[in-house]
Amino acid sequence: MSNIPGYIHGTASVSRSPVSLNDFEQMKASVLFGEEDVKALRTSHDIVKGRTEAILDVWYGFVGSQPHLLASFSGKTDGKPLGDYLTSVRKRFAQWILDTSSAGYDQAWLDYQHEIGLRHHRARKNKTDGAPSTDLVPFRNLFALIFPVTFTLRPFLAEQGHSAEDVEKMHAAWVKSCLLQVTLWAHPYVKDGDF
Ligand code: HEM
Repeated sequence: MSNIPGYIHGTASVSRSPVSLNDFEQMKASVLFGEEDVKALRTSHDIVKGRTEAILDVWYGFVGSQPHLLASFSGKTDGKPLGDYLTSVRKRFAQWILDTSSAGYDQAWLDYQHEIGLRHHRARKNKTDGAPSTDLVPFRNLFALIFPVTFTLRPFLAEQGHSAEDVEKMHAAWVKSCLLQVTLWAHPYVKDGDF
């Protein structure tokens, strides 16, 4: 069990994902995600595990530099960035980097994906940290962030002398993994029956 506050992956507090493992297998096929990608993500694990803080400095720097993104981490009434909220979420984000690069896709992982989606949506945003922030991460930003997240990760993947081909494979696997995850997180945003 992890001692990161609010990180409840693998516990009974996580509700069942409405998406089945079978649906997820089809999603993987749709994005051309296969065993090569699992292997590439796991290769990236050894690289990113010691660099999570540096990676998060870049990602948080990006979000912090754009007022419309920072708004999701700011006070609902005064619009001021909430330091405690940013810090709490950052710890779970670091764990997410490790989980994404571990590439294990069991029912507990699928269920926690749904939880992460709910936490971006008005269904559960702010509840984990008791943050007095805005009600919703707008979907238009959620989806678009896949590009900056994966583009800025690339230099980190190249840091330890892997071949250009291996860096490319790791990068592609991260893009696919983020596409799959953000698609799962979209569930609460999509009209009933349309997912
Ligand atoms: C929470 C990743 C897009 C705002 C989180 C967490 C992760 C994450 C891993 C913590 C989940 C947990 O509680 O265990 C991502 C990724 C994104 C993305 C990979 C896109 C590729 C965005 C965008 C925003 C945003 C565009 C808006 C600026 C937030 C907020 C939380 C959060 C406010 C805290 C939610 C809460 O109250 O629990 N995100 N995120 N995220 N993210 Fe994102």
